[in-house]
Amino acid sequence: MAEHTTTPHYTVPGMPKEDAARVVEVLRMRLHSLNDLALTLKHVHWNVVGPHFIAVHEMLDPQVDAVREMIDTTAERISTLGGVPAGTPGALVAERTWDDYDVGRADAVAHLGALDLVYAGVIEDHRAAMKTTDELDPVTQDMLIGQLAQLELFQWFVRAHLESSGGRLSTAGAHTLDEAADQALRDARRTA
Ligand SMILES: [Fe+2]
Repeated sequence: MAEHTTTPHYTVPGMPKEDAARVVEVLRMRLHSLNDLALTLKHVHWNVVGPHFIAVHEMLDPQVDAVREMIDTTAERISTLGGVPAGTPGALVAERTWDDYDVGRADAVAHLGALDLVYAGVIEDHRAAMKTTDELDPVTQDMLIGQLAQLELFQWFVRAHLESSGGRLSTAGAHTLDEAADQALRDARRTA
C-alpha cells in the first residue's frame, strides 16, 4: 500500500510534487467513496420494494449516472497529477473507513433512511477534502465543489421523502444504517 503515498515523478506544471502527493492521497479516498456510493445506489435500485417502488427505483438511476461521471473525473484528476487511481474492489474494501451497506430487500422508506446516512458520510468527507485542497490545489477544489453541489442535491431528494411538513427528518440522531432505516420505517408507519 506504499504506492499511494509515493511522491509522483511528475505533476502539473507549477505545483510542488509534495503538494500533488497530498492531493492524490485525498482524492484516493474520494474515489473509493464515490465508487462505493455508485454501487450502493444500484443495490438500492434493485432491492427496493413496496408502494413507493417505482418512484425510488427511477429516482436513483440519474444519481448513479452522475456519480459515475464524478468517479471518472476524480480518477482522471489523480492521473493528471501524476498519481495512480485505484479502481479495484479489493483496494476499495481494504482502505475504506465505513461499513458496507447492509440493507437487503426492504421497503423504499427503509432504504431512503439508510441512504440519507450514506450520503451524509460521503458529503461530510467531500466537504473536508474541499477544505484541504483550498490551499493545495484550487483546480481539484473546483472539481470537488461541483461534485458537492450535486451530492447535496441528491441527498435532499432522499431527505424530502423522510421529512415531515414541520421540517423534521425521521432519520435525525441515527448513527447506523440500521437505526436510520428503522426510524424512517417507523415514522412512515405512524404517519400512514
Ligand atoms: Fe435498472
